[in-house]
Parts: sequence; structure tokens; C-alpha cells
Amino acid sequence: MKIFSGTSNRPLAQKIAEKLGQDLSPLEIYVFPDGEKRIRVLERVTDEDCVVVQPTSPEPDKSYMELFFIVDALRRSGASKIKAVIPYLGYQRQDHVFREGEAVSLEVIATLLKWGGVDEVISFDLHSIKIPEIFKIKLNHLSALPIFAQEIKKMGKATVLISPDSGGIRRIKLLSRMLGNMPFAVIKKDRNLATGKVAMDGIEGKVKENAVIIDDMISTGGTIVGASDLLKKKGVKEIFVFATHAVFSDQAPSILSNSSLKKVFVTDTINIPKEKRFPKLQILSVSQMIAEQLKM
Ligand code: R5P
Repeated sequence: MKIFSGTSNRPLAQKIAEKLGQDLSPLEIYVFPDGEKRIRVLERVTDEDCVVVQPTSPEPDKSYMELFFIVDALRRSGASKIKAVIPYLGYQRQDHVFREGEAVSLEVIATLLKWGGVDEVISFDLHSIKIPEIFKIKLNHLSALPIFAQEIKKMGKATVLISPDSGGIRRIKLLSRMLGNMPFAVIKKDRNLATGKVAMDGIEGKVKENAVIIDDMISTGGTIVGASDLLKKKGVKEIFVFATHAVFSDQAPSILSNSSLKKVFVTDTINIPKEKRFPKLQILSVSQMIAEQLKM
């Protein structure tokens, strides 16, 4: 098996390769002055199983195009099977028509991955468990919840798990079970689809002195900060956050850093550059889980 990395998260690709006891295979990724990319495989891959690691954040369109070109180069060079490790799958929130006239962007991505020559995809904590049904190729849906469960156990505090919206109920129930039926509560969230603004309308379930908010991703930080403000009003003293994908768009890092949150745990499905890191942030790695999946 040969492992290649696109440019979106090379540190993660390197960790995965290390866990599998090998080096990353070389690729030439040349960027022309106008932004176009030329990809060239620099190693013999004939009849080899190849893995390409490329989460699609930041800049989902650029990351996807680069992935498609790497896959094409591998296919033309004779690779027998190509697995795309896309720990953060961009466009996953556009998995159906919400309002008349909208594109189903994720379906376009799924079609392009298949047509481009990808045989299998590995991804993490997808927004909906129905997403694999959209794909006509195998999509291995992994979850960072076991890593979160370990970390929450280590904290050793009597706490309550919080889902910041009803879409996260399944996730929170799974985590609660992993933690010996830890109590949980669900916030009633409403998002204005036109403006993206979120409103928190109350909470179902009891809260305690400490709370752990669980989410699949943090993009602008609006959901997490809205949830933590509501929890504070309900008398919660210490609030921790666990979210798989650190999309961190706009001012998210400074919003989170200046919030009353005690600590923010995310994973390395998306590379987090130094300028987006802050003292309260702790990054947990999914590399071991991916390496184990690749061994199967
Ligand atoms: C929404 O349903 C998701 O689970 C996340 O809560 C959301 O995408 C986070 O986005 P933001 O950080 O912009 O509120």
C-alpha cells in the first residue's frame, strides 16, 4: 500500500504513514501563476493499492480539485485500488434540498469521486448517517466519539453531555452509552437558512455544574457560543466542548478563545494552522483510527 498526501493536511497524512510504519510517497504538486495545479506521481504505483489523504477544508473547492487530479494521476499510472481518506468531507451539510431551487452539492461530490476513480472513501463524523447512502462507492464512516469518551473519562468530573441541536441526538446518545449512560440534554436550536444566524430556544433535560457540549463541527463558532451562553444562564459553571471538525471559519478562533468556555477539544481531521490555535484548544488525533481502518 502506498500513501499519498494532498496539501490540505500533510501532518495528518504523515502521522497515518508513521502508524503504518512507512513513508509518504512523493507527489509533485506544481501551482501555475494563475492558480491551476499540475499533479505528477513520482513513484511506481502499477498494481498497487493507493491511499490519498485530503480533507476538504480549508477551501473545499481547491481541495476537491486537487484530490481529483491526484486520483487521476494514480489511476493513469496503473494503481489498482484507490482509497480517498477525506476525514472532513466538504459539502456534507448540503445533502438534500432544504429550499426549493437548491443544488444537492454533496451528491455532485459523490458522483465526481466515483467517476474520478475513487474506490473507497474514509471519513469522520458525518453530519447525517444517511450520507453514505448518497455514495455509490463504499464510504467508511468513522467516529471520533471513542476518543472523546476516553478524554471525558480522564476529566473525572460529574457532568452532563449537551447536544447543541436536535441533529446531534443520535451522537450524544451513543457517547452517553460509551460513558455508562452519562446523563444528557438537548438544546433547541433554530438556524435561519438565509442568514445562517442561530437562535437557542431552551433546553430539554437537566443540567449540572459542569457540562460537555458535543458537536460534529465548529465553523463560525456561533452554535457553540450560543449553547454555552444558554448553559451559563441555566447556572452551569464549567463548560467543555468536544467537536470533531475544526472548520474554524471567520473569527471562530478568537470567538472561542474569548468565550467563557473552559476548554475546546477538536481533532486533527482538519489541519489547524498556528494562527488559528489558542490556549484553550486541545487537538486529539484520529490518525490511529485511520491507520487501523487502512489495515482492514
Ligand atoms: C449544525 O447542524 C452542525 O452540527 C454544527 O452545529 C454547525 O455546523 C456549526 O456551525 P457554526 O459553528 O457556524 O455554528
